[in-house]
Parts: sequence; structure tokens; C-alpha cells
Amino acid sequence: MAHFLTYLLLSFLIIYDSLGLSQSNQFCDAGVGYPESTCGFSSSSSSKLLIKGGTVLNAHQQEVADVYVEDGIIVAVKPNIKVDEDVTLLDATGKYVMPGGIDPHTHLAMEFMGTETIDDFFSGQAAALAGGTTMHIDFVIPVNGSLVAGFEAYKKKAKKSCMNYGFHMAITKWDESVSREMEIMVKEKGINSFKFFMAYKGSLMISDELLLQGLERCKSLGALAMVHAENGDAVSEGQKRMIDLGITGPEGHALSRPPVLEGEATARAIRLAKFVNTPLYVVHVMSIDAMEEIARARKSGQKVIGEPVVSGLVLNDSGLWDPDFVTAAKYVMSPPIRESGHDKALQAALSTGVLQLVGTDHCTFNSTQKAFGIDDFRKIPNGVNGIEERMHLVWDTMVESGQISVTDFVRITSTECARIFNIYPRKGAILVGSDADIIIFNPNSSFEISASMHHSRTDTNVYDGRKGKGKVEVTIVGGRVGWQDDELKVVPGSGKYIEMPPFSYLFNGIDKADAKYLSSLQAPVKRYFTAS
Ligand code: URP
Ligand code: ZN
Ligand code: ZN
Repeated sequence: MAHFLTYLLLSFLIIYDSLGLSQSNQFCDAGVGYPESTCGFSSSSSSKLLIKGGTVLNAHQQEVADVYVEDGIIVAVKPNIKVDEDVTLLDATGKYVMPGGIDPHTHLAMEFMGTETIDDFFSGQAAALAGGTTMHIDFVIPVNGSLVAGFEAYKKKAKKSCMNYGFHMAITKWDESVSREMEIMVKEKGINSFKFFMAYKGSLMISDELLLQGLERCKSLGALAMVHAENGDAVSEGQKRMIDLGITGPEGHALSRPPVLEGEATARAIRLAKFVNTPLYVVHVMSIDAMEEIARARKSGQKVIGEPVVSGLVLNDSGLWDPDFVTAAKYVMSPPIRESGHDKALQAALSTGVLQLVGTDHCTFNSTQKAFGIDDFRKIPNGVNGIEERMHLVWDTMVESGQISVTDFVRITSTECARIFNIYPRKGAILVGSDADIIIFNPNSSFEISASMHHSRTDTNVYDGRKGKGKVEVTIVGGRVGWQDDELKVVPGSGKYIEMPPFSYLFNGIDKADAKYLSSLQAPVKRYFTAS
């Protein structure tokens, strides 16, 4: 009954929102329309900030220093900075001051599996800021195969943004125009990465032939190729197998797409990228099988980046067997959350550098949307939350457990993402000249996650009830306080699109390796032909 009422309320809110009547006012005290004076980034808030006495964390070092910010840029990092009275002071004594998180993998307002993700570019970003993330990179889905049309559609969706965002672009078909539009995306639109789905047969899935063409094109443009690595043909077979066995519930989702199918596709993508000699980024690494393929490739010197997501690091598949459909369905994502053991192995791989950075794959659907698959797990929209929870859960799981240092935390949640997508040190660092995207983190406080208190629009949370050490107390985005005293202070439309240039450090040496390969070819052989 409680869930039914929640469905009713949410359906009402969705209609209300789609009519443009609301922007979910859980974020501030203001009424409809977010008047600036009452709902953040107010015109009176200072563009000069001094963060005093904290321990400044960068990926490369930690130091006790003040951080002075003017007009959205860090202008000084040193002890005992003296300022005038018009500067807003933030006391960070006993706390960490570090770069805001950058989430490399989100899906806001994405049309997918017959519906649209419930978090848009405002609610998703508001949730992010509450959790200490100041930038995310979302995946543009082409419109009827057109990248330009897809980009325009996402630009519109992102108008209500309140923090930094960038775009990856999915490639879902191949022809001359897609190839041409990839160049436009890279040279004119600030996109430097393209994602190829090796699963979702019949919708987003591409063939090996397309993947090869895409890898070649990415290489020529200096863009990073990304893969969703699962064998989509085998997944489709696995799904039929489950339905034939009468397994129609959420557990069928995990059973139909076992780790071996993720391992196979990861290995295939890695080998094709090696054949082309271009860097590869494997998104949402969920299993030991996939992780070990990445480890092997990296050991051999291949440029492969592995991105685990929070759900894979801290959850196991037990929830999918929950007798309550709403509970079980909330855990459905692809590749699936694996059985216990994969989580710990992924943590170890992250701590030893086999995997490099942590995303969320934040892709939220509410219980009403998840219920599309009440009789058939194949119809449950795939995706879980995480954009708000990532920083806290990674801190608690990785730092508090002693698996990584505090500076490593900065690297895997922010700096490495900025480097891979070629926006470092503008982002991912507390350095003079960097953008002032900063968080103040109290390691002696604590966090608690609950579906009723989170800032996402969804009515469930896969981390519901989790508690741990550490708390993001202040989030500063573009030099303005966006989260403080457990309150959001942001307005839609204040966000910023971050263009990302091609040819990141991952492309260093690619041309030399190609030249070496070409000069090593003892071919073509000068032959003679002796007629008999
Ligand atoms: O289940 C997931 N991962 N949903 C989002 C789409 C994707 O595959 O990244
Ligand atoms: Zn994916
Ligand atoms: Zn995703």
C-alpha cells in the first residue's frame, strides 16, 4: 500500500514537472521557480572566498595551507593568507580541503528502455553537489543515429544545470555521416570520447565491424574509445534461457548475463584496441573476469583504463533475490552487480592501480518505472543511483579500511578523471590557476544514506541504510558555495559546460609505436617469379 501511494505521488510529480510547474523544491526553501535570493548562488554571495587552516589534498601531495579564491579561480594556496573584510571565510581547521569529485559516468534525463531516467540535469547535479561532486560527464545518445542532433538535444536538457558537466557521445550506428559528425564533435563541440555498447541487442548494441571502424576513427581524432563490455548476443540467449526456465524476476537479470560474458567482451575490445593501437576505456567494470583482462593488458603495456563503479565496489547481488519486487528491481543494472567476492577483488584492483578511477553509472528509475518489468526482468529499466553517494562510500570503503591513502582518494575520485579527459589541472587539483571546485571534508564526522533524505528524485536507494565515517561539509563549485550546513544553495542554469580537448596523455607515443611497427615489417617482400 505504501509503495502504491508512493507510485501515485511520484506519477503526479512527474506530470507536474513535465508541465514545467516544478523543479522539485526539496533543494531549498524557495517556492516554484527558485527565486535567486532564497535559493542559492544569491547575488549577494561573495565571489571571494578564503578557506582557512585545512589540510589541502592533491593527488600528488598534502599540505596545511589556506586556499584563496577569486571569481571562480584559485589564486593562492599557502599558509596564513591575509585578506580584506569583503572576503567570505570558511574555517577548515582539522578538515581536508580537496578538489571536488568528478564523476566520469552518468545518465541524466536519458531516454532508455522505453522510459527516461528520473534525475534530470538539475536534480542529478543537486544530488552530486550534496555528495561533494562538482563535475560529471554524461553520455549523449544520438537522435536517429545523428550525433549533431543528439548533442543539440542534450544541450537543451542541460540548460537547467547547476554545476560543471561534460559529454561523452555514444555511437550506435556507422556510416559516412557518423564518421564526419565524430570530427565535428571533437573539433567544435568539446567531446573527446565515444562509447560503444557491446550489449543491449536491438537498441544500442554495435557489431565488431562497427567497433573496429569506431576505434580507427577515435584514434585519428585523438578521442578516447569507451566500451560497455558484455557479449550482447550471448546475453540475449541467456535471457531466453531464464524465461524458458520460468525465471522472470530480477534474479533472472543476473543469471542471464554472468561474469564470463563480461570477461569475453572486455577481452575482445582490448584485443581490437590493440590491433588498432589506440587507448581503450572500459566503463563499469563489475567482475573479476573483466578486471583480470584489464590487468593482463596493462601488464603487457597496453593503454587500457578500467573504471569500476560504486555499486560494483560496495554491493553484492544478494538484493536481486529479495522477495520484495521493488527492493530486488532497484538493484538491476548492467553488467549486473556480482556475487560477493567480486566487490573485494575490484577494491584490491583499485588500490593497486589495476583500475584507475571510480564512476557511478548514475542512471535512476523510480519504482513505477522499475515495475515495467514486474512480469519479465528484461523489461526492468537498467540502472542504479550513486552520484550523491560516491565520495562518501569510496572514502569509507577504501580510505577508512586502510586500502588507499587520502591522496589516492583524490586521485581516483577526481584527478585521474581530469587527466584522462584532458582537463587537468584546470580540474582535479587545488593549484593556483585551477577552477575553484573544492570540497571541505570532515574525516571525524559521519554520513548516513537514506532514500527519504537523498536529493535524487528516485524513491529508492541501493545504499539505503549505509553509514560510515567522513562527511562532505561544504561543496564549492566555480568559486561559489553550493552545499553547506546540509543545505543546497544552487539555482538551475548556473552550471557550466566544460569542453574537453582531444589527444590526452594516453595518446603520447601512439605515433611512435605505429612508426616502429611499420618499420619492423619485413614486407612487402620483393619477389621474383620463375616461370617453369
Ligand atoms: O544499467 C546500466 N548500466 N544502465 C545505464 C546504461 C549503461 O549501460 O551504462
Ligand atoms: Zn553501459
Ligand atoms: Zn552507463
